[in-house]
Amino acid sequence: MSEKVRTLLSEEIIDKRICQIAEQISKDYKGKEIHLICVLKGGVFFMCELAKRISVPVSMDFMALSSYGNGTESSGSITVKKELDENIEGKDVLVVEDIVDSGRTLKFLLEELKSRNPASVHLCTLLDKRERRVVDIQADYTCFEIPDEFVVGYGLDYAQKYRNLPYIGVVEIEKED
Ligand code: IMP
Ligand code: MG
Repeated sequence: MSEKVRTLLSEEIIDKRICQIAEQISKDYKGKEIHLICVLKGGVFFMCELAKRISVPVSMDFMALSSYGNGTESSGSITVKKELDENIEGKDVLVVEDIVDSGRTLKFLLEELKSRNPASVHLCTLLDKRERRVVDIQADYTCFEIPDEFVVGYGLDYAQKYRNLPYIGVVEIEKED
């Protein structure tokens, strides 16, 4: 079997859209500071590009949650693999995610963060596979809604590969006889 990656969203299109979303976020948070929380590892590329374009002051922290392993389905039980370094009490938190799929990961994370008494918690995602949702989670900022296909690139992986692609693509597995 061999894998091919078909481009779904080009680097240029992603770049333009991140600029728009960053402008919107900067307007919405005018006069405030944003505490960005990146969900490792997939959210890293998006977080960096987004943060560079936000014009209000930002601070950043990172959290890792258990996720897919090498498969393509998330399980219901989610655990914290890496804790935040800083306390979020009283802060305006903006969670930065690569993709909302079933929504299970975000449901867990948002509930966990809200229990720590931040001033606010909002969600910004690069991608949203809305038709796959099994729990009620809505992002406040979504760059792109995409169809139900397994995507890689821009931080997203397939068995830890392809995170470094500067675009978003769909993995196609070709069977050889
Ligand atoms: P959820 O809990 O089902 O919403 O899954 C969220 C996590 O699954 C994301 O943060 C990704 O790490 C991973 N994921 C979901 N869909 C994809 C995909 O198409 N490609 C790569 N990773 C994905
Ligand atoms: Mg993720």
